[in-house]
Amino acid sequence: MILARKPKLGQNRWVLDQVLPLNSSIAEQYFTHAPNGVWQNFCSLLSRDVYSEGDSQSLYDYVMSRQAEMSADFLAMLGLWLADELKHYEALRRTYHCLSGVSFVDMDRCFSERVHDFDPLQITLQDEFTLLVTLMFDEIGSVYSYRRDLAEYYQHFGPNIQKIGHHLVKDEGMHFNNAAELLLAHHQHRLGDVRAFLEKISQLEGSLKTYYKTFFLDHAQEQYRFPKHFNQVIIRVILARLGLGQQPTSKELKELWQWIPEGYSLVPIFDAATRHHAAAVS
Ligand SMILES: [Fe+2]
Ligand SMILES: [Fe+2]
Repeated sequence: MILARKPKLGQNRWVLDQVLPLNSSIAEQYFTHAPNGVWQNFCSLLSRDVYSEGDSQSLYDYVMSRQAEMSADFLAMLGLWLADELKHYEALRRTYHCLSGVSFVDMDRCFSERVHDFDPLQITLQDEFTLLVTLMFDEIGSVYSYRRDLAEYYQHFGPNIQKIGHHLVKDEGMHFNNAAELLLAHHQHRLGDVRAFLEKISQLEGSLKTYYKTFFLDHAQEQYRFPKHFNQVIIRVILARLGLGQQPTSKELKELWQWIPEGYSLVPIFDAATRHHAAAVS
């Protein structure tokens, strides 16, 4: 009899209060010296990212409403994951507050008004296997997205904000890895389906056009920030992690977060309110 391997779950342990205490502020010099357009873009970006991290709670609640279908290891992983995502929510609230002056009360009100619609995402929510593959897709997308944000925004606002950016990248990488461990431990017999399912997720993301406040596929709202082949490269990263293909080259990976659309000095941030790109044009 072959015993299933035990997934090796990891967690990047860090204490938010030590990195960015609640009453933190950003020294004036950083606002003065940040390149043109960076502060405005960072505020627009955070006005969305803050809440999508908080949406982890509704995804967690949704999965827990079906917890009888899930394995104990999956639920243990999900507990670690939620703690990290809620820490990200609080970390981004503090960052957003320091940068924009938006009050925590206003953020609470905004968050409480959100409507979480799981219907458009049904194919990702079928079972533990589809949840894990979607989680890998989402988390590795976040790794490269935060890497871009770190280089373009977080690094300009002092060591504490920069540290937050570093932890975000590291945590999302851990989440990606933990989901891979679960798939390898409990879903070996379905690994042959991963490639086709990833293509389905990518198509779904392309067709969504908007983000449904469900944590999954939040990059649907910012696809213009990334090169066209972004999903194809991250799909190959996922397949490689599961032993199903070759890792993309370091040049291909770098391009995911260093690519800049022609004509811009800074990747544009699409302002949902004005329906315009809010960016510094070179
Ligand atoms: Fe996160
Ligand atoms: Fe994550």
